[in-house]
Amino acid sequence: MENVVLLDGKGRRWLVPVDRGMVKVKGVGAVKTDGLDHLIGSKVQLNRRDYFVMMPSVRDLVETIKRRAQIIGPKDSPIIVFNCSLQAGDLVVEGGAGSGAMTIVLAHAVSPNGRVVSYEVRRDFLKIASGNVERGGLGGLVEFKETDICAGIEEDMVKAVVLDIPDPWRALPTAYEALQPAGHLASMSPTVEQVRQTVLTLRDLGFVDIWTVEILERRMEVNRGTRPSFDMLGHTGYMTFARKALKVS
Ligand SMILES: C[S@@+](CC[C@H](N)C(=O)[O-])C[C@H]1O[C@@H](n2cnc3c(N)ncnc32)[C@H](O)[C@@H]1O
Repeated sequence: MENVVLLDGKGRRWLVPVDRGMVKVKGVGAVKTDGLDHLIGSKVQLNRRDYFVMMPSVRDLVETIKRRAQIIGPKDSPIIVFNCSLQAGDLVVEGGAGSGAMTIVLAHAVSPNGRVVSYEVRRDFLKIASGNVERGGLGGLVEFKETDICAGIEEDMVKAVVLDIPDPWRALPTAYEALQPAGHLASMSPTVEQVRQTVLTLRDLGFVDIWTVEILERRMEVNRGTRPSFDMLGHTGYMTFARKALKVS
């Protein structure tokens, strides 16, 4: 195990490397990392505060990434995995690696023998995304390409194409070509205008089973009185899904 997660009583978490001697962790302080992996599930005291040592979950990986671009977070990414029916061994193409948050979730879904190919136009984002994926121990499953996904997808017979770019409709013709018959298309967009242009293009191209959803998340506060939290995770984006139907010749 390369990393563990330190979890405090307030639900805050830190991904910490294992067996690297003394490491300074921002927000925790100096941590002796040798043998931390043998303490999974245990409570430890570090710098006079209590933490639980956890095996990193996929949520831990996403919530502790170094982020620059807006990410697809834990409210939305599992919906994409479910609706694209992703499983071990699948080949997925992603457009817009950004910080690599969605890439981590896709790689986790297709592990241990699948593959994610992630297209990204910006070299600085590619560096951040690949660092985050490596840090999650998923580097072997992901190939990053510094290329505009709208210019063409090199892979074929792809199980799903997942887009998180400002103009997804431009990538749909190449996505259609790359997908296997009945393959899945998922696209995340923050605005209604983007959704409309995406859906109209999907219809023109002959995709079927086209639908769009927004997910809102409200947690419960369980105390002496139990009620929904006043804060909720509201609008992040709309997810549009579709499937490739073959054209009748
Ligand atoms: C919102 S971010 C993606 C965030 C990512 N889904 C995540 O969870 O971390 C959008 C990214 O798409 C990239 N991008 C925009 N147009 C692109 C294109 N045509 N091909 C590839 N990448 C593109 C941007 O540089 C940016 O990094």
